[in-house]
Amino acid sequence: MKIKNICCIGAGYVGGPTMAVIALKNPDIKVTIVDINEARIAAWNDTDLSKLPIYEPGLAEIVEKTRGKNLFFSTDVNAAITESEMIFISVNTPTKTYGKGKGMAADLKYVELCARNIAEIATTDKIVVEKSTLPVRTAQAIKSILHNTGNDINFEILSNPEFLAEGTAIDDLLNPDRVLIGGDSEKAIDCLAHVYSSWVAEDKILKTNVWSSELSKLTANAFLAQRVSSINAISELCEHTEANVNEVAKAIGMDSRIGPKFLKASVGFGGSCFQKDILNLVYIARSYNLNEVANYWEQVIIMNDYQKRRFSDQIVRTLYNTVSGKKIGILGWAFKKDTNDTRESAAIYVTDQLLNEQANISVYDPKVSEAKIQTDLNNLNTRPAIENQENVSYNDSAYDALKDTHAVAILTEWDEFKTYDWEKIYAQMKKPAFIFDGRNLLDKSKMNKIGFEYYSIGQ
Ligand code: UDX
Ligand code: UDX
Repeated sequence: MKIKNICCIGAGYVGGPTMAVIALKNPDIKVTIVDINEARIAAWNDTDLSKLPIYEPGLAEIVEKTRGKNLFFSTDVNAAITESEMIFISVNTPTKTYGKGKGMAADLKYVELCARNIAEIATTDKIVVEKSTLPVRTAQAIKSILHNTGNDINFEILSNPEFLAEGTAIDDLLNPDRVLIGGDSEKAIDCLAHVYSSWVAEDKILKTNVWSSELSKLTANAFLAQRVSSINAISELCEHTEANVNEVAKAIGMDSRIGPKFLKASVGFGGSCFQKDILNLVYIARSYNLNEVANYWEQVIIMNDYQKRRFSDQIVRTLYNTVSGKKIGILGWAFKKDTNDTRESAAIYVTDQLLNEQANISVYDPKVSEAKIQTDLNNLNTRPAIENQENVSYNDSAYDALKDTHAVAILTEWDEFKTYDWEKIYAQMKKPAFIFDGRNLLDKSKMNKIGFEYYSIGQ
């Protein structure tokens, strides 16, 4: 089967950038991204490229080159399914908030809805590609739904997990370490491999069975998150022993068996994937009664929650055991730099705990809006929305946001924070002025010289 039309259901952080790059590298394939969210599709179609719903360095340029040529954004899901030979499912798979597996298992209702929609609409053979991260054996469910349509259409199901990281999505897509395709039909696998081979070397396209592919995605995220929790565990030990976590990370990272990446101690990892995927892994392991396996991986999450709590506790303790009525500046709300995504960001939890201690919070983030910050806090349901509104303010200028604060907490590693005039910030703060650097971003001795009481992670 020669692929001429691709449809992707879900115009999110994964579907949008991935399909934009596929379209860029395959000018002869028409790629249509559909989404049930009309506002999101309208934003993708906005002539003002700064209004795209997702911020990723390099994305707007690719959309500008391809949109209207072979890349299209639409809400007409059925039309796109009908005309495509290959359909990617890239809808969100959040952690369940109800029923069995609540707080642990992935909620697959959107994936199932997509499968049912495809089953209902399709009149020709389709290759259905799982792009969303899914628990092992989800392909079985999709297969069963598609194969029980009662008509004679042939559906092939492939797993093709996405390994891009936000903030570097375009670069990761253009130069992937590997592309993983799982499936049991060699023909279908080759069709998808052909799409990627427009820009990815053959030896980087890895073909496995569908279950290995699904499990590899969860495992990759679990291993990455585990490295962060491991170095964060060591960071606390450093604080008690006068070892410096940056030095330890460098020393162990030079061991080629360990490697230098993902060893940056922080206030805790965030993002839509790490926690969700580990919880998923834990849930699956428990469902097979593999309690030691489940407990082992669950510890990565427990350590991460502890790291966030430890950070806010330190702020309260250092500010003479009370932040009640004190203004605290938060620099950075996104879960990492170069993205406007705030899902599971440490900033949300640190702020929530400081609000519990009756602090007044003043936030600045270069890419996150005030409305998003309020929504993130309200979604925790810790207190009435009106209290979040009264006690959390936002400012377009970092300097104004930090005026009259007792302390600054740096929660995202945005590059611009390093270039600020910290003497000016110091002059405008209450004294003693504290910095709690949750990203080890600033130079301790420089900050001390200005007059700050500077606290960082693991030093
Ligand atoms: C992705 C993956 O798909 C997810 O499995 C992974 O673990 C995290 O990253 P992401 O692209 O980040 O999800 O999600 P999101 O930005 O929420 O986009 C999903 C889109 O799917 C939304 O725009 C939503 O409106 C759309 N959607 C959802 C549909 O179009 N139809 C549905 O039935 C459900
Ligand atoms: C992750 C995976 O890297 C990617 O392969 C997968 O497809 C989706 O999940 P993402 O969540 O976008 O990507 O970002 P990532 O760069 O992995 O960072 C995750 C979190 O860990 C961030 O909050 C980041 O600040 C934190 N982190 C990362 C650290 O605290 N220290 C590190 O050394 C690395």
